[in-house]
Amino acid sequence: MERAKIKAVMPVAGLGTRFLPATKATPKEMLPVVDKPAIQYVVEEAVAAGIRDVLMIIGRNKNAIANHFDSVPELEGRLTEKGDDSRLGHVQRSSDLADVHLLRQGEPKGLGHAVHRAKQHVGDAPFAVMLGDDLIDERDPLLTTMIEVNEKRGVMVVALMEVDPESISMYGCASVEATDDPDVVKVTDLVEKPAKEDAPSNLAIIGRYLLTPEIFGVLEHTAPGKGGEIQLTDALKEVAADPAQPDVYGVIFRGRRYDTGDKLDYIKAIMRLAADRDDLGPELRPWIKEFAAGL
Ligand code: UTP
Repeated sequence: MERAKIKAVMPVAGLGTRFLPATKATPKEMLPVVDKPAIQYVVEEAVAAGIRDVLMIIGRNKNAIANHFDSVPELEGRLTEKGDDSRLGHVQRSSDLADVHLLRQGEPKGLGHAVHRAKQHVGDAPFAVMLGDDLIDERDPLLTTMIEVNEKRGVMVVALMEVDPESISMYGCASVEATDDPDVVKVTDLVEKPAKEDAPSNLAIIGRYLLTPEIFGVLEHTAPGKGGEIQLTDALKEVAADPAQPDVYGVIFRGRRYDTGDKLDYIKAIMRLAADRDDLGPELRPWIKEFAAGL
């Protein structure tokens, strides 16, 4: 189903320091996961949830992202001449997928700041924020559930995942109350990257949000927080605490997710996705077994 009103905002202006030096000249969202850049999976996920309009908030090294979602007449012409329809299809897919718009962040002042830049484009409808280095396996739908929770309750929605308590300090963390649905909770408080001892739960915010335009008014006065950056988590904490604002709900995701901005998770993502593919899996799976046996 096409959801004409909902747009996706993809902030891709982070510095990607965890993946240096690969991200010195290339945005981390352009690193290939098997044979597609990570960001293409995220655009495909938006399209699968019925979204056609994607706004990318871009930073330095933006050209690679802009070019990937643009058409390349000389390459397409060459593949057409050669009759290589399969590769032509792959090349054209990224430019035909969605209407991709680009907007510069200016300075990378944090995720909250990047989201605020989308205010004009988004207008007054709910919108999705999707982080380009967070891959949700297409077999485990999440965004559609989040859109449904927003439609049903008129609330903002964050995606939550249970993580090992040791790693909660890498995420925004939520205090929650149960609802009648075991996978949907009401968020009562949020804290960005808490120390393990201070974390109110092991529920981490992962890179999908369904926000309503009230968030922009809050982001306008959100002060820089952890790391000196304007944090989306801090703005959502204020929304959750203010009875005059919409409620904040969480959808607990129990599927497969890969943080491709993290080196180890990036390698795991490639192995798992390639092992499941019909073109690569039959040769790769026995190789992985043999390789693992020799470790
Ligand atoms: P991260 O904290 O993962 O981003 O930001 P980072 O700074 O790129 O990565 P590391 O930790 O240094 O390796 C979460 C998301 O917000 C975007 C990033 O691109 C990423 O998708 N972001 C962050 C912006 O668009 N602008 C910013 O100012 C900060």
